[in-house]
Amino acid sequence: MSGLGKVYLVGAGPGAPDLITVRGARLLAQADVVLYDALVTPEMLAMCERAEKISVGKRSGQRSTAQTVINQRLVDCARRYQLVVRLKGGDPMLFGRADEELRALELEGIEVEVVPGITTAVAAAAATLQPLTKRGVARSVAFFTSSTAPDHPEHPALPETDTLIQYMGGREAAATAERLLAQGRRPDLPVIAVENCSRPDQRVLRLTLSDLAHGLNEGLEAAHGPVLVMIGEALQRREHQPADPQPERPA
Ligand SMILES: C[S@@+](CC[C@H](N)C(=O)[O-])C[C@H]1O[C@@H](n2cnc3c(N)ncnc32)[C@H](O)[C@@H]1O
Repeated sequence: MSGLGKVYLVGAGPGAPDLITVRGARLLAQADVVLYDALVTPEMLAMCERAEKISVGKRSGQRSTAQTVINQRLVDCARRYQLVVRLKGGDPMLFGRADEELRALELEGIEVEVVPGITTAVAAAAATLQPLTKRGVARSVAFFTSSTAPDHPEHPALPETDTLIQYMGGREAAATAERLLAQGRRPDLPVIAVENCSRPDQRVLRLTLSDLAHGLNEGLEAAHGPVLVMIGEALQRREHQPADPQPERPA
């Protein structure tokens, strides 16, 4: 026996506490220590009954724990505890710096397992009743971000898929729309922006690509929560589609 604990990278899903997997919830209940992201909700932390809880949150533009510090804390925790959970918003393997955490743990010979989570793109498709693919209309989807590492500041090329899903795009979305228009995408292409997907304060904004090029407008420009932007013909409302759910209002 190595004497080292095991680390689980667990996907928390988009926020609603019942959108974590059964396996993820069981591990939270059993964990000795949980290191969690800024996007993980208090309801989900309430599921970690016996664990020491450590915030290693990162939100853009706010003070955050450096990734190297998080990596080292994971290694330290695996030396002290048997069951370590690294709880990450959505799915750990998408835009979650999982590669760096896996490398740090593997370098030390620490056993790791990944428990997938519902990534925001599919949660937002469900929340808006809007499939991301559509027979005869959209058969490819890209999950992408314009957010770049500081040592790679150049603007990466935009995906050429039918449906585009932009993570971490709140501030970048207007520039993305301008670039898509310049590439010949239709100005009336449907766009949906979802803030706080799956949470009681979820907001949905429907607009067109040309609207988006002028900014996310008053609806989400001042968004405080995370925002996902979805673009593509598949997102056209159906004729009898019900209205989008509105945020719950306090009674
Ligand atoms: C660092 S990435 C993490 C993505 C995560 N691993 C996933 O699979 O959803 C953070 C971005 O995901 C999106 N996001 C995460 N949770 C969200 C939510 N509940 N509502 C809307 N967007 C969300 C936003 O675009 C946010 O800027």
